Amino acid sequence: MKDILEQLEERRDQARLGGGQRRIDAQHSKGKLTARERIEVLLDEGSFEEFDMFVAHRCVDFGMEKQKYPGDGVITGWGTINGRMVYVYSQDFTVLGGSLSETHAGKICKIMDMAIKNGAPIIGMNDSGGARIQEGVAALGGYADVFQKNVLASGVVPQISVIMGPCAGGAVYSPAITDFIFMIKDSSYMFVTGPDVVKTVTNEIVTAEELGGAKTHTSKSSVADGAYDNDMEALFEVRRLVDLLPLNNREKPPVRPYFDSHSRVEDSLDTIIPENANASYDMHELVTKLADEGDFFEIQKDFAKNILTGFVRLEGSTVGVVANQPLVLAGCLDINSSRKAARFVRFCDAFEIPILTLVDVPGFLPGTSQEYGGVIKHGAKLLFAYGEATVPKVTVIARKAYGGAYDVMASKHLRGDFNYAWPTAEIAVMGAKGATEIIHRSDLGDAEKIAAHTQDYEDRFANPFVAAERGFIDEVIMPRNTRIRVARAFASLRNKQLTNPWKKHDNIPL
Ligand code: HXC
Repeated sequence: MKDILEQLEERRDQARLGGGQRRIDAQHSKGKLTARERIEVLLDEGSFEEFDMFVAHRCVDFGMEKQKYPGDGVITGWGTINGRMVYVYSQDFTVLGGSLSETHAGKICKIMDMAIKNGAPIIGMNDSGGARIQEGVAALGGYADVFQKNVLASGVVPQISVIMGPCAGGAVYSPAITDFIFMIKDSSYMFVTGPDVVKTVTNEIVTAEELGGAKTHTSKSSVADGAYDNDMEALFEVRRLVDLLPLNNREKPPVRPYFDSHSRVEDSLDTIIPENANASYDMHELVTKLADEGDFFEIQKDFAKNILTGFVRLEGSTVGVVANQPLVLAGCLDINSSRKAARFVRFCDAFEIPILTLVDVPGFLPGTSQEYGGVIKHGAKLLFAYGEATVPKVTVIARKAYGGAYDVMASKHLRGDFNYAWPTAEIAVMGAKGATEIIHRSDLGDAEKIAAHTQDYEDRFANPFVAAERGFIDEVIMPRNTRIRVARAFASLRNKQLTNPWKKHDNIPL
């Protein structure tokens, strides 16, 4: 009996060594943690339960029968983050470059099935050279199986991908279907085809970093939602994010103890809006002054900076925030900001996370590049996302709410539950100058008349009261009381029930 127990321990020790000490050292020398170390950092201490430690591949081509590693290059199982259950997989680059075989895929699919069944998030730590070349179509099939599970899990349980090494080919498409992608600066890459293929096909010479590094994907392509300095930091941030999310789409977001006053009055908000209507201010200041303990988990902070998206807590409950940022492009909506915010709104709605919208938007960005790029279709994404969302929606118009952008930003007409405005709000079809030039075109040569018309238009519309008279604004509130008013609004909406007409699924403009 003792021998058998020892044998098990020996087998386990061998599996824990992955591709061997030499490759583990190589992984460390690149500043990367091993697959097992990553799981240890991510999960609560001692909470990890492993599945399929002894699974081995079945390939016999290219001498693969002699290259078998227990676990086959991916560690899978479940554990807890601050006591709440999550399923994880962590690809082991020390085993055949973390490449995905049929059996490796089978292990990932197994925990995904369990996550869907048991209602817990899936977190994938990706570090893989893609499809295992020796296996050919069997590996490709394995990838497609994973993609299919990702699709079925979408909107059922949160899916988070951390890119922790090179991810090429199939290795990028599973993360691409998940809800959030985080990367590590200088040690993770994502591309469909690497720099060598790019050079052969297009003659472009580009480094891996330029083609698919963290900076590229967080600021240019928007494929990734955040980038961190190293493995440890990224995994700690994933813990923080998971803490904000419900475990599945049947649960409400978690409520945590909070140490901030629910009746906090923020006098500084009374003066945050500059005297000059064209001057800007940092919308982060408003978001952090409303949030419990000033804590804001920002999503896509380096992309489309003219809109902010992310999570805060109000009285301990998670709330998704979408806010125009006057510091960038005067807070205009454009193609990128519409796409960014639409995806965020849809995530919140899928997982019952209430949405707070903070508005200061002069309109959609004009220009040929926007029109040729399809701003109509992309702007419609945000309009659609807000219009279909049934979660509690609270909107505060801080300053400008002009034109179509007024409608889009969770207006009363898109089933906003509470639509507040500050006294500084300006709600109109367009700015006074533009409006005057159109409706008083015949007076354009007369500067005095034009000034009078502009003043007239400003007096009439550069305020929240015309909208309030119609009930499009429920209440004009003091800026300093915004946290209290918004928190009370969300508290009153905790039992909100609203369902859309039955459909197979909608047809959001993609
Ligand atoms: C089998 C692989 C492998 C793969 C790496 N290895 N990728 N084995 N299949 N796809 C092995 C290497 O042979 C090596 O084994 C070990 O992993 C480490 O690889 P290195 O090249 O030494 O490491 P490094 O220099 O860090 O380079 C990493 C890499 C490179 C950038 C990932 O290995 C690479 O370019 N790999 C191929 C990427 C690729 O083209 N994949 C196929 C994508 S197509 P030893 O024994 O020497 O340690 C795809 C199709 C799916 O995925 C499409 C679905 C839509």
